[in-house]
Amino acid sequence: MPKIKYQLIPTDETTCIEKRPRKFLMKGAFFFMGLLIIAFYNLRSTGTESKNRTLSLVKMTEITEQLGSSQFEKGITSFTAKTSSIKEGKTTGPPEAFTESSFSQSPDELGTNTSNAIDSEPEVKYFVNSPNCRMPYPNPFAPDILKIYKKQPYKVCDKSRDLITVKFNETDSTYRLHQNENCTCCFRQILPPGVLDKADNKFKLHYCVKFPQDFLVPTNVTAMITYCRRPPYDKLSQKDAFGFVHPREDSIEYNKTSSGRRPSVLLWGIDSMSRMTLELTMPRMYEYLNAQHWFELQGYNKMGINTFPNLMAVLAGFNESYAKKQCRPDMAGGLDVCPLIWKDFKDKGYTTAFAEDWSLHSTFNWKKVGFLRPPTDVYGRPLILAAEKMIQKAHYSEIPFCLGRKPAAEYVYDLAVQFSRVNRNSTFFGLFWTNTFSHNDFSMPSAMDEKMVKYMRTLEKNGIMDNTIIIFFSDHGTRIGPLRELDIGFVEERLPFMYIHLPVWIREKYPKFVQNLQLNRNRLTSPYDIYATLRHILELDTSPEELPRPEGCPTCHSVFQEIDWSRNCHKAGIQRYWCACIRFTDVSKTDNLAKTMANQLVDEINEFLMNSGEAERCRQLRLDRISSVRRDGTSNIYEIKIYVLPRNACFLAEVEWNPKDQSIAIWVPSISRVDIYANSTACTKVKAVEKFCIC
Ligand SMILES: *[C@@H]1O[C@H](CO)[C@@H](O)[C@H](O)[C@H]1NC(C)=O
Ligand SMILES: *[C@@H]1O[C@H](CO)[C@@H](O)[C@H](O)[C@H]1NC(C)=O
Ligand SMILES: *[C@@H]1O[C@H](CO)[C@@H](O)[C@H](O)[C@H]1NC(C)=O
Ligand SMILES: *[C@@H]1O[C@H](CO)[C@@H](O)[C@H](O)[C@H]1NC(C)=O
Ligand SMILES: *[C@@H]1O[C@H](CO)[C@@H](O)[C@H](O)[C@H]1NC(C)=O
Ligand SMILES: *[C@@H]1O[C@H](CO)[C@@H](O)[C@H](O)[C@H]1NC(C)=O
Ligand SMILES: *[C@@H]1O[C@H](CO)[C@@H](O)[C@H](O)[C@H]1NC(C)=O
Ligand SMILES: *[C@@H]1O[C@H](CO)[C@@H](O)[C@H](O)[C@H]1NC(C)=O
Ligand SMILES: *[C@@H]1O[C@H](CO)[C@@H](O)[C@H](O)[C@H]1NC(C)=O
Repeated sequence: MPKIKYQLIPTDETTCIEKRPRKFLMKGAFFFMGLLIIAFYNLRSTGTESKNRTLSLVKMTEITEQLGSSQFEKGITSFTAKTSSIKEGKTTGPPEAFTESSFSQSPDELGTNTSNAIDSEPEVKYFVNSPNCRMPYPNPFAPDILKIYKKQPYKVCDKSRDLITVKFNETDSTYRLHQNENCTCCFRQILPPGVLDKADNKFKLHYCVKFPQDFLVPTNVTAMITYCRRPPYDKLSQKDAFGFVHPREDSIEYNKTSSGRRPSVLLWGIDSMSRMTLELTMPRMYEYLNAQHWFELQGYNKMGINTFPNLMAVLAGFNESYAKKQCRPDMAGGLDVCPLIWKDFKDKGYTTAFAEDWSLHSTFNWKKVGFLRPPTDVYGRPLILAAEKMIQKAHYSEIPFCLGRKPAAEYVYDLAVQFSRVNRNSTFFGLFWTNTFSHNDFSMPSAMDEKMVKYMRTLEKNGIMDNTIIIFFSDHGTRIGPLRELDIGFVEERLPFMYIHLPVWIREKYPKFVQNLQLNRNRLTSPYDIYATLRHILELDTSPEELPRPEGCPTCHSVFQEIDWSRNCHKAGIQRYWCACIRFTDVSKTDNLAKTMANQLVDEINEFLMNSGEAERCRQLRLDRISSVRRDGTSNIYEIKIYVLPRNACFLAEVEWNPKDQSIAIWVPSISRVDIYANSTACTKVKAVEKFCIC
């Protein structure tokens, strides 16, 4: 009997598979539909709360089957009670009172019952704890994590003194280039390349124009590279790159009357960072967010594998397949016609901006064509491209971390600061996204911790917080590397952090939003809800029923409205595979079933390599050890984690076990490789084969 193949996981970022073999899909379609049905109805947790408060995550899931449901029911009751008491406090107090006092809950108060009378041992904590979703809150400081975490100091990219300082004049929003030493300098203007097929990967440079002391930057110059020479002027002393945001000529002051006032919006994003990793690696920022009463969504669960699907859900409300169909990121001009949310803001008179570091890995450019025309009024990409090309780079964990004299991420954040400052009397929408200090090494964000707080303080000082809704968030957690290999890797990968700042006037005018955001803190949310929230921000006074719903998740809605406590992943637009709610129970690794499945899994991979045409380049894999086997509820679906030789590669797969013919069904390309493998696969150029190929 031929094995049935099916797809459970979308393709992987670093090993992106563009084309799926058709025949597998055809065979799998029927079975896959069945699976989906099981998935939708299976989300109800059958779990119970564990008695052993020190149990690790995995142990915890093991127990869930053995205990009755009474303890769990009790847990829920107390949770409800707590929630409703907060509700009461809210509605009885005046708005001022609750904006202050209601923020005083400790970060994990809602998700757990901290006053456990039975024992004083540390408890199992949950981000979400409802009948349809128990989402574990693993300890970010667990010993196995601390063992691989290496706190990093701030990286000084260039110790030499600035030869040029940009002086910004608040009154007329102009910039002057001040030379700090007696030297001669010229600048090359960075220009967008015009409309070409590969426009988003090119830039133009003007010839070098000599400029005098305190030179006034012309308003048509948005980015430049400067070259300075000290006496005797025979060699280059310093190169630098700068971006400038000028005021829009037609900018209008925002309407300050209460009825007509609109908030600005800043999306401030860090790639690949979970809520746990934020708490661990950026303690200052974490403390800042809590102390400054930002609203957190602890049950924020990613909806797709990597950046593109998750950001498309936020920016367009589309699921991945629909985003690819509607926006054609692989075709020149495809993304230009995509209905991204900044267009809606633009239509309402907002000034828009988008900037991202690491040009190669940028959201709309990694294996995609990008934009032919600048998608927003202010667009950071030409500056980043030119800086990457024209000034020196320093790499950390294989990312161009330093770009000339400062970290690449700071070009993006400096632009954000300048953009919001120049436009602060009108309304603006900006997306500022960074990859370079978080993408490859989960420890690296610690290097930017204090800097990040400084940026927030700068926004405060500039008065930006008074009229701007800031969404500080990530797209997913760590997907590859040692952290992902740990048991907590499953949750780590699925739970990006999500914080929201609301200006005081919004909190006062819409007290219900505040109340709902606090309720939603420990409820299951997804990127689609954030899209719905952005649509809500566009029309704050529209009633909930009339607000548009995301195409990819019609049951999702603004987080300013109360999210259903008993929501499941399906209702939040999250596929079963990406759902972080507990559904697995441990199966013994030494079990015959575990061994059989693991061996078949390795055979399947080897067969895939054989048939790939790359067989002579890639070595045959051997099972080294089974790391874990977990069963999905009472179904025949198992998640298997194995290490294979050579090179101790780590694979994760969800397989369907068929007891009748004693074999697994698996669609090989859906298998994840979670150890760092980028440079062990150089001998093959076949994308689909890369993650399996050990040269
Ligand atoms: C709880 O689990 C720990 C770690 O697995 C174990 O050492 C301990 O004996 C357990 N305690 C109880 C009361 O089951
Ligand atoms: C916490 O749990 C204990 C024991 O299970 C229970 O007596 C108590 O009411 C709970 N407290 C809250 C605030 O839920
Ligand atoms: C800023 O610009 C205003 C108006 O052009 C001018 O009067 C003022 O002197 C400038 N400030 C500085 C510090 O240059
Ligand atoms: C700058 O250098 C020139 C030539 O070396 C000299 O004439 C001038 O006085 C210097 N200016 C300052 C401010 O040091
Ligand atoms: C920018 O404006 C200056 C005049 O302020 C003009 O001389 C120059 O040609 C313009 N450059 C471009 C690229 O438009
Ligand atoms: C501000 O908005 C209100 C309500 O929409 C409107 O009545 C008022 O005329 C606006 N004021 C200005 C200065 O545009
Ligand atoms: C914004 O408005 C304030 C007060 O009206 C004014 O002092 C400030 O210069 C303005 N800023 C910009 C960038 O227009
Ligand atoms: C994606 O969204 C489109 C449009 O809403 C829908 O037709 C399609 O079924 C969705 N696909 C998946 C896999 O959910
Ligand atoms: C990958 O290559 C870099 C140098 O290019 C090397 O330093 C690093 O150790 C390699 N990583 C692995 C996992 O082999």
